[in-house]
Amino acid sequence: MLTLTGESPIVAAKITGASMKKSRAHFLCQNCGYQSPKWLGKCPACEQWHQFAEEEPVVAASPYRYSDGPAQVVTMGEIAADEQDRILTGIGEIDRVLGGGLVGGSAVLVGGEPGIGKSTLLLQVLEKLAKGGLKVLYVSGEESAEQIKLRGRRIGALSENILILLETDLDEIIRQLEEIAPQILVIDSIQTVNSSALPAALGSVSQIRECAGRLIIQGKKRGIPVFLIGHVTKEGSIAGPKVLEHMVDTVLYFEGDAGHQYRIVRAIKNRFGPTNEIGVFEMGRQGLCEVGNPSAFFLTTGQEPAAGSVVAATMEGTRPILVEIQSLVIPNNFGAPRRTTNGVDHNRVSLLVAVMDKVCGHRLTSHDIFLNVVGGIKIDEPAVDLGIVASLLSSLLERPVGDKTVVFGEVGLTGEVRGASQGPLRIREAQRMGFRRCIIPHSQTGELPGEDGMKILSIGNLKELSRRLFD
Ligand code: TYD
Ligand code: MG
Repeated sequence: MLTLTGESPIVAAKITGASMKKSRAHFLCQNCGYQSPKWLGKCPACEQWHQFAEEEPVVAASPYRYSDGPAQVVTMGEIAADEQDRILTGIGEIDRVLGGGLVGGSAVLVGGEPGIGKSTLLLQVLEKLAKGGLKVLYVSGEESAEQIKLRGRRIGALSENILILLETDLDEIIRQLEEIAPQILVIDSIQTVNSSALPAALGSVSQIRECAGRLIIQGKKRGIPVFLIGHVTKEGSIAGPKVLEHMVDTVLYFEGDAGHQYRIVRAIKNRFGPTNEIGVFEMGRQGLCEVGNPSAFFLTTGQEPAAGSVVAATMEGTRPILVEIQSLVIPNNFGAPRRTTNGVDHNRVSLLVAVMDKVCGHRLTSHDIFLNVVGGIKIDEPAVDLGIVASLLSSLLERPVGDKTVVFGEVGLTGEVRGASQGPLRIREAQRMGFRRCIIPHSQTGELPGEDGMKILSIGNLKELSRRLFD
């Protein structure tokens, strides 16, 4: 007969099972860092598929500390900080995106797809800073010294003050940092840095977090700006810079694709300046060149107005930019209609299509819709709504929009057209670019600039839009 005593084998097995579970590896989303005790197909946090990988649970080798001694409390008044302390890189578009230059001790994450121009841009920034007399350190774990030299020669970055370190070991990088004491540090890329104190694989979420955390602390301790370069692929299949976004002060992302000439650098987070600010560059033979007049860059010039093409005035950060929205609306008599959008939110377009159907009676739901923002720029401000609607309408009715017309305004669910921020700035930009007509929300007529040869048409809802668009 089996009697259960205190030390029953079943209970013992259960206990060891539980304690084994504790020390077992867990699963981490390689895109956003979400943790789960079991493998999941779709990440509940970032909603990406097939991102989970098993990793050993790690305990940081030593806690991140700003100082080695006991911590000290200070009052606000005792802290010396000055706006003038910013370091200007000398590349206007980058200084703008950074909110007016680099801040000492700040950590800047530069993300983008491979081959988009991250290393090129950073080397150009380092050249400018080195020319200004700063000692800069470029740590590369991706390329050989010869490759870096060749790129440097191509873009004219050959300054003696640029120090190159080919290293991937975190402790060695920190040791060199102490010895060299540079004034700017660039890590290219954070995915190649590896801490031997961790059992996790190179490029895994745990490694990236640990290495970035330590380098950021080093930057803050020394008061030097640290740039961390991180790759993101379209599928987000490499441990993403997303896990670092909350650790750094500024996040810059490259938009556009490597197949085109232009590159857009956008600040999606900035503790020292406005977000959504963009810098526009063109990739040329000598690296990235600044584009001073982005509106001209994004507009197709010298062409007859075509049905489906509309120019919208948007604000990117503090700067107004004119963009061209093109759409193709064609009847679909077989099966589910197709919706393809590029540069604006897919769901936003669906919503506007529904509003157009309901409010104006346009039978758009049974049409295939292809919509594109020319130039590859991504726009997520609501003021572009009116541009989307006008473009769809123009293509649906096969009528070109009146020549030299710019539109802006947000569209509500009942078809009302609402005001957008910075109306006068948008109108002035349209004026500067030679536009003659501006369709704006009715609520904004009170704040117009003294316009010169510009016809302002104000509308209150979508029904009015159809009447005035083709005048
Ligand atoms: P790179 O900076 O190496 O990209 P990343 O670091 O983001 O992976 O940029 C590489 C691309 O840029 C490559 O496709 C070649 C192109 N390029 C030019 O067109 N002109 C240039 O002067 C340089 C240096 C690169
Ligand atoms: Mg690179």
